[in-house]
Amino acid sequence: MSLFDISDVSVDEIVTYLDRADHYRDHVRTSELAESTVATVFYEVSTRTRLSFELAAARLGAEVVSFVPETSSVAKGEILKDTVQTVAAMGVDLLVVRHESAGSPEKVAEWTGLPVVNGGDGRRAHPTQTLLDLLTMRRHFGRLDGLSVGVVGDIENSRVARGLISTLPRMGAELTLVGPATFVPGLGAGGLSVTNQIDAVLSEFDVVYLLRVQKERGGSSGYPSDAEYHSRFGLTSKRESQMKGGAVVMHAGPMNRGVEISDPIADGDRSLILEQVSNGVPVRMAVMTGVLGAAQ
Ligand code: CP
Repeated sequence: MSLFDISDVSVDEIVTYLDRADHYRDHVRTSELAESTVATVFYEVSTRTRLSFELAAARLGAEVVSFVPETSSVAKGEILKDTVQTVAAMGVDLLVVRHESAGSPEKVAEWTGLPVVNGGDGRRAHPTQTLLDLLTMRRHFGRLDGLSVGVVGDIENSRVARGLISTLPRMGAELTLVGPATFVPGLGAGGLSVTNQIDAVLSEFDVVYLLRVQKERGGSSGYPSDAEYHSRFGLTSKRESQMKGGAVVMHAGPMNRGVEISDPIADGDRSLILEQVSNGVPVRMAVMTGVLGAAQ
């Protein structure tokens, strides 16, 4: 079994992953994967995802190897298929793959015959990010059902947003997409609530989920300047004062401080941003044991 896209995962399976992740918050070290080897194969940069997969695998007792393209034979021209088949030939049980091309995790699974967890593929999917986002909301509010969530920013280019769009309505939450028209084209047609007027809706949300402008995917062509974006859509202290009591701020990271979020909000009491990072480790423990059928 592999995990490619959260849209392939049922509500019952999502709840099982979240329950298992809660379990691993209280069982930080186990030996469930003591007989397994996990390889992280990341063709795009990462801090949170790669390190938390590697920590999660180590805390499950697995052997962990980390493939870094820049210092590998990719620099000599080796293609993805040959690279992942080479890694697999060394005796690996699970591959965690990040790649700029949507659908590449499925190709890696096909080429190697190994289970693959998608660590982010292009604009398409980042399923463990979605699970840690849901876990963070569920732990903070004690529920997902009935939560009002505003996702703000570069929705068009964001695999994080796609994960939230795919799951939050299924979990009973109310989802509103907020951003410049260039970042939310056509999304209203799917029955989702969409607005370009952040100041008209901020007071409605329990969760304000800020998205990074995906400059590496062309996001900066969707607005005139960072200063203009910050002025029109950035979560400033003035805007934060419109949020209701108890409402929280989330962000998958890395943040563009001074663009989608200001320093006082990033470092303030409403921020669950580091809590999201913390939840990434138990979520990835739950996913790897689930995918390898090792959950006890
Ligand atoms: N949220 C996320 O995927 O962060 P990294 O790019 O640092 O892994």
